[in-house]
Amino acid sequence: MIQIVTVPTTPFDGQAPGTSGLRKKVRVFEQPGYAENFIQSVFDVVAPQAGAVLVIGGDGRYHNRTVIQQAIRMAAANGYDRVLVGQGGILSTPAASHVIRKYQASGGLVLSASHNPGGPDEDFGIKYNIANGGPAPENVTGAVLDRTRTIDRWLTVETPDIDLDAIGEVQVGGMAVQVIDPVADYADLMEELFDFDAIRKIVASGFTMRMDSMSAVTGPYAHEILERRLGFAPGTVVNGVPLEDFGGHHPDPNLIHAKELYDLMMSEDAPDLGAASDGDGDRNLIIGRGRFITPSDSLAMLAANIEIAPAYRGRLAGIARSMPTSGAADRVAEGLGVPVFETPTGWKFFGNLLDAGKVTICGEESAGTGSDHVREKDGLWAVLLWLNILAVRGISVDDLAREHWARYGRNYYARHDFEGIATEGANALMDGLKAQIATLPGKAFGPLTVSHADSFSYTDPVDGSVSANQGIRVLFEDGSRIVFRLSGTGTQGATLRVYLERYEPRFGNLDAETSAMLEHQIAAAEAIAGIVANTGRSAPDVIT
Ligand code: G6P
Ligand code: ZN
Repeated sequence: MIQIVTVPTTPFDGQAPGTSGLRKKVRVFEQPGYAENFIQSVFDVVAPQAGAVLVIGGDGRYHNRTVIQQAIRMAAANGYDRVLVGQGGILSTPAASHVIRKYQASGGLVLSASHNPGGPDEDFGIKYNIANGGPAPENVTGAVLDRTRTIDRWLTVETPDIDLDAIGEVQVGGMAVQVIDPVADYADLMEELFDFDAIRKIVASGFTMRMDSMSAVTGPYAHEILERRLGFAPGTVVNGVPLEDFGGHHPDPNLIHAKELYDLMMSEDAPDLGAASDGDGDRNLIIGRGRFITPSDSLAMLAANIEIAPAYRGRLAGIARSMPTSGAADRVAEGLGVPVFETPTGWKFFGNLLDAGKVTICGEESAGTGSDHVREKDGLWAVLLWLNILAVRGISVDDLAREHWARYGRNYYARHDFEGIATEGANALMDGLKAQIATLPGKAFGPLTVSHADSFSYTDPVDGSVSANQGIRVLFEDGSRIVFRLSGTGTQGATLRVYLERYEPRFGNLDAETSAMLEHQIAAAEAIAGIVANTGRSAPDVIT
């Protein structure tokens, strides 16, 4: 008989899951009982049935192994039948989503703080994904938060740590634990979706790329898929070994943190394609030789060409984008005659649309693109879809972009981030904006006149649930737009995001500098929101 140990506990404040799970400093997670309270709250809410399988994996960051060992013991005590865990505790977020779906698990724990830095003084996170492989929706995360407020015990079994590095099956407190190859299932799936032969052909005829895995989780996946299965030269994948502190960097694939890649792609020595992925492998950065593709444009360009890839032939049902993502994808949807959905920020909002077959491809301005193959965004998937399209069309990234804009027009777009600002200032700024909503229409800011302003609210077309307060939108008569939002993924203070967009029609000025094209929108954002006064910052910390 297995002895279940009941450990008394008291609630911790602030265990609210944010945009993407519970994220805190490692020091916070290291408090005795902190991770346990949250995991037990998840288990209490989802109440595993007989035969339930749980997937556990993470991005390899500092503290991963400690929490995984504990989660395995707790899963045994909470009645799970089996745990599948990636070797070394590794599973990229999209791979975890795939494993949950493939093995019909009841859910999974994904241990990651995504693109946030790792290490003893940095960030950690835990996210629960449901049986469809996607992040738990708000009714689940809300119930988990409620439970964290009343929790008084957690359950475990007294067993030693397992060997996470040895593939195979062991028993923990009467529950089977299977340590699985974290890469194989995912790599096989990619091979089913895309035309690997076509990609192999252009590689053999000299097409080159650099994949920067940022010392994070995609290293082993990229080595296997790009170098071993597709034949790219060894060394194509750089920073390909997952490190607990990501080598001291932010594993965030943007122009600031992947600057080396950007500089290479703008130089004489640029390969044909440059790509990068984040801490847990769900984000992507795409840069062609001399041409950066914004995530919003990438979504539009991939959607316009997705039917080239074998698994998507003739079945683009619809496109979804988060509200702050540019409207470039909307123009493609219109052109192709398929519906477009505008959701709040957060991949979880795409889950219902994907499950219902209403959309095939989704994307966000925050460097996320994905499809109905899993229920997370998927960094390497986006890279492979780009490769598949370039291979079949025999075109460069730059030419594809120019051709796209010539057909659909171009949505000039930038996001300005003000990071780690005081919460009071951030809230004052947002309150100030809300107070202005009714009076903004008709007002002029330089050459721009406001046509509409609102606080974005989303009604899920599948289950009717309403998510209000998802950011302030200011639309102008010329079709340009500013969106203000506070980030839901930071761990310190508040982060203000200002999203700026201006549409330039076909035959217009399609190859200008983004910052110059957005000059009036940037000035209007300051005039409307009082960013300098409220944040004490005269310039953004990051522009993407
Ligand atoms: C994570 C989520 C995305 C979201 C992004 C930015 O990556 O999975 O869905 O777009 O964070 O969120 P934030 O709230 O920080 O703007
Ligand atoms: Zn991520």
